[in-house]
Amino acid sequence: MRRPIIAGNWKMYKTVADTCAFFDTLIPEIQNVEHCDVVVAPPFTVLAVAVEETEGTRVAISAQDVHWKNEGAFTGEIAVKMLVDVGCTYTIIGHSERRQFFCETDETVEMKARAAVQAGLQAIVCVGETLNERDEGKAAEVVRRHITNGIGHLTSSDLSRIIVAYEPVWAIGTGRTATPEVAAEMHAEIRKILAEIHGEAAAQEMRILYGGSVRPDNISAIMKKEDIDGALVGGASLDPTTFASIIKYV
Ligand code: PGA
Repeated sequence: MRRPIIAGNWKMYKTVADTCAFFDTLIPEIQNVEHCDVVVAPPFTVLAVAVEETEGTRVAISAQDVHWKNEGAFTGEIAVKMLVDVGCTYTIIGHSERRQFFCETDETVEMKARAAVQAGLQAIVCVGETLNERDEGKAAEVVRRHITNGIGHLTSSDLSRIIVAYEPVWAIGTGRTATPEVAAEMHAEIRKILAEIHGEAAAQEMRILYGGSVRPDNISAIMKKEDIDGALVGGASLDPTTFASIIKYV
């Protein structure tokens, strides 16, 4: 049995005061939730505050990105050990916005994933095709490349700390959610690719999240699909009440 995960990605939103207000509302609303892991990924500047606000709760805090080097002259970057130092237990890697706007490649995804898992973090590695790629019938090919080059060379013990997020770029922030059927089909494909590379047992254990316009009104149908083990939620994770109702999808 794979334990579901509902993860919120705040992207470039929220100040310190916003962060405190968010958790003041969220925590009491989800105190009886036991059916899934809950993760929130705030911007770097409020990671420490978010860790403090969620101490002793079931909410884990994630970064949205990380550098692969342990330290060095890399202006503007954040190292894995800095994330561990503030109490982060997860990081997102290879989000499509990083790939589209900040030159993220499968090669950097691999280096980041390796650094993250070696430091004991859980890494949520994002994969997914653009609208053009889907229209050209290349969705499965693109996702195969992201998986093979991004996490295909990791060891099986590394893999136990990797969570894959399938985020079709055309569904992110567009309100155009993939239907549960379309999402489920790609999730099954991803599990097949993982099995080819890492073996059936490892593939069965890996959690694969769906991301792209997840909302309270579509989460239940998405979560009913066999190969979908959770969601990575952007816009709808910014409001604590909305995010709580996604978490309480059962
Ligand atoms: P969205 O974003 O839920 O706003 O579509 C998802 C994501 O980018 O992780």
